[in-house]
Amino acid sequence: MIKVENITKSYADVVALTGVSFEIKQGEFYGLLGPNGAGKTTTISILSTILKPDSGSVIIDGFELSKNPEQCKRSIGVVTQEIALYNKLSAYENLLFWGSLYNVPDAGLKKRIEETLQLFGLADRQKDKIETYSGGMKRRINIASALLHRPKVLFMDEPTVGIDPQSRNLIFEVLEKLHTDGMTIIYTTHYMEEAERFCDRIGIIDKGTIIAQGTLAELKSTGGIKESIAVTFTNLNEDLQLKLKEALLGDFHFSKQILTYYSAQIRTDLSKLILRCNELGAEISNIEIQKVNLETVFLALTGKQLRD
Ligand SMILES: Nc1ncnc2c1ncn2[C@@H]1O[C@H](COP(=O)(O)OP(=O)(O)O)[C@@H](O)[C@H]1O
Ligand SMILES: [Mg+2]
Repeated sequence: MIKVENITKSYADVVALTGVSFEIKQGEFYGLLGPNGAGKTTTISILSTILKPDSGSVIIDGFELSKNPEQCKRSIGVVTQEIALYNKLSAYENLLFWGSLYNVPDAGLKKRIEETLQLFGLADRQKDKIETYSGGMKRRINIASALLHRPKVLFMDEPTVGIDPQSRNLIFEVLEKLHTDGMTIIYTTHYMEEAERFCDRIGIIDKGTIIAQGTLAELKSTGGIKESIAVTFTNLNEDLQLKLKEALLGDFHFSKQILTYYSAQIRTDLSKLILRCNELGAEISNIEIQKVNLETVFLALTGKQLRD
């Protein structure tokens, strides 16, 4: 459905994309996960014809973006990072405006607006001006406006940043429904939980390029990252450390009062580890299990945290 090949983009002297490539099948929910400044918005802007790439090619629904931007635009709905709505108009009027902009025929438009308002739980507030809406409600109308022309593909750029949990959950429900109904979705985020929750496949983007790509399970198994157990002691002196080093097998290290033990089978290793510590008189004050998730994958790939 979408094929992005080696797109690059610079703003004056800032290189935003050094070469981004990915392919998305019809009906796939693709997450673009990366920290601030990674190039997510630049990628989405290029795909939605807001920006032109310096090089590379994009094919959407069989059309080459540079040659047939109008055909491409018809297939896509875009939810930009910044919400664009008219504050002085009601939600209904805003949707009427966006629908006509997307050339939705008048006859069907009103019905679609009603259905969409219902879907986003805002039918009872439709006559109120947008300026009376909360951030989350504005976002819901903003997403609704991108769906009125029934696009095959939906691009969403960090739609849940800074909105209330109620709106966020409603947006998640709508997204899950759209996904079930077969829509192709590209969703950018810097929250690993969101990428883990919905996405069929995830591209991890950093410094203008995709550094890893795959299903959640595939990404978790990249780079041989293991789960770890971090045990904090109250009485860890040199003598005790030496004894533990002799007694423990496998991959571990000490720092200050903490022993970090890497394991491919946490469940069995955890009880053994505690038993060994008890035998040696090591007093444990805390135990933390660090599972492999997209955060640890990102850390292993880049040496830095996803969230700064
Ligand atoms: N209009 C612009 N002018 C100059 N630099 C920009 C502009 N927009 C984005 N950038 C830079 O391009 C890089 C990628 O930005 P962006 O695509 O917005 O990342 P993200 O959406 O992942 O946070 C960043 O270094 C950012 O500072
Ligand atoms: Mg952005």
